[in-house]
Amino acid sequence: MKTLLNKFFGVSGGHQVITRVEAERLQLDTQWQDPDLPQKQLEIVKRELAQIKANHKFPAHMQALIDQMKLLALTKPTVLEIGCSSGYYNEILQLAGVDMQYTGCDYSSAFIDLAKQFYPSLPFDVCDATALPYQDQQFDIAISGCCILHILDYPKAIQETARVSKRYAVFSRTPVIHLAPTTYTKKMGYGVPMIEIIFNETELLRFFHAAGLRVIDIITFGKGPHLPGSKESTFSKTYLCEKV
Ligand SMILES: C[S@@+](CC[C@H](N)C(=O)[O-])C[C@H]1O[C@@H](n2cnc3c(N)ncnc32)[C@H](O)[C@@H]1O
Repeated sequence: MKTLLNKFFGVSGGHQVITRVEAERLQLDTQWQDPDLPQKQLEIVKRELAQIKANHKFPAHMQALIDQMKLLALTKPTVLEIGCSSGYYNEILQLAGVDMQYTGCDYSSAFIDLAKQFYPSLPFDVCDATALPYQDQQFDIAISGCCILHILDYPKAIQETARVSKRYAVFSRTPVIHLAPTTYTKKMGYGVPMIEIIFNETELLRFFHAAGLRVIDIITFGKGPHLPGSKESTFSKTYLCEKV
């Protein structure tokens, strides 16, 4: 059944608008811990990495993060990626010529097992984005790696990202909408039902501000998902913030 749904929706699709109460009841923010997910994602990541190596060209969502890391022009910064999956962004950034000391963390032990297998010399931790086991200001840059959209307590995840960062925080691949309020959707991701939060951008920027972050760069790299029943477009953006 999961395979059939995966074939039908691809990696991500079938968005349905739901209430926050419904999302909480279904515990949709725990779904990335499904032990079958890492292998499914891995197949796609392997293909993407092979294409990048062959064409020397990165997909737009990766290029956004690369551009912002290069904009900072720091010498070998310490970088934490929160929601790192199997740690492949470490390889992508290295391929793009971003030199850094990388640490990855994710709340899925299956993803972290894979990360340790692929990148045995790098540090990886299993932990929740809302309760990071790191010291205040431990990393020059904290990258929230496309994960707040999957976390019901996203204000806490934003605060934690800001807390462990000494200088900069990046919120990569974040779906936003401009007029409608923050909207909770249920979608199929890699064949399992999961939450995707589409943030009202003004609300999101106020949470960044409340966490002590000032936005210094925004890259809009895509449109979608289209929300059923709405005429308004959603956009995918990567936000670079500085600690104030
Ligand atoms: C869409 S993937 C992003 C992977 C990679 N960072 C990227 O940008 O392509 C989201 C990742 O966030 C992780 N995640 C979701 N909720 C989390 C939480 N509460 N704490 C830590 N990681 C979480 C998932 O396990 C998954 O690996």
